[in-house]
Amino acid sequence: MALIEIEGVCKYFMGRVAIDNCTFGIEAGKIYGIIGPNGAGKTTLLNCITGFLNPDQGSIRFKGKNIEGLLPHQTCGLGIARTFQKGRPLPGMTVLENVMVGAFRNSRHARDAREKAKGILRFTSLYDVRHTLAVNLNTGGRKKMELARCLATDPEVLLLDEMVAGINLKDMEEIVKLLKAINSQGITLVAVEHVMDFIMSVSDVVIVLNKGELICKGAPREVIEDPNVIEAYLGKPYVKNQ
Ligand SMILES: Nc1ncnc2c1ncn2[C@@H]1O[C@H](COP(=O)(O)OP(=O)(O)OP(=O)(O)O)[C@@H](O)[C@H]1O
Ligand SMILES: [Mg+2]
Repeated sequence: MALIEIEGVCKYFMGRVAIDNCTFGIEAGKIYGIIGPNGAGKTTLLNCITGFLNPDQGSIRFKGKNIEGLLPHQTCGLGIARTFQKGRPLPGMTVLENVMVGAFRNSRHARDAREKAKGILRFTSLYDVRHTLAVNLNTGGRKKMELARCLATDPEVLLLDEMVAGINLKDMEEIVKLLKAINSQGITLVAVEHVMDFIMSVSDVVIVLNKGELICKGAPREVIEDPNVIEAYLGKPYVKNQ
């Protein structure tokens, strides 16, 4: 049984299909990359899994139990954490306070939440900026802060929406290392991303969406050579940026 089972999921906005009868499983312990053109339904799919949206049809199961229709705090409570494409630092709060919010999933006391958050800030190299207002971080810092806030919830699965979009190469390499370390602790990762070098360096399995439909799923090397993927998304065969 897959950790997350997505079966026949459809989502419509004003009659237009955003997710079109998607069926696939997310196996525990792996890193999945999800790619596809703008508007393909990638964020909508993460929103359906995490309860920010309800699918119109189909079912989503986590460890065998139906979760479609649960609210975001309930899916988080089960161990599903997500970052946001546009970044959502809690305004008026420092980096440490933002991460403490995540730590309150399992800590009852502020002191425990603070200690837990500090450990995660060291792991993500954000400890030195812990007293900075989160909104004042640069893009790479905000992305790492969101990752840290997710980790503080002790997730079993982490859904990342464009984690490395718009950040410099050095920050991207650091995030790749962090994600691999997180995965080696047994946390399943699902990364929506347009940056193909990132997708190729982290993914065990790549899923391709186009107009809401799953058009390809497989090992990264197989997927990038698929003619349908080249036509719908890549435009030309993928060549690694040097
Ligand atoms: N809340 C919403 N209301 C109406 N339409 C929406 C809403 N959210 C998404 N859509 C539409 O659903 C489709 C899928 O959007 P989605 O944001 O999931 O795409 P995406 O694959 O994440 O794209 P991108 O790579 O640009 O982030 C698009 O046509 C989008 O305009
Ligand atoms: Mg998106």
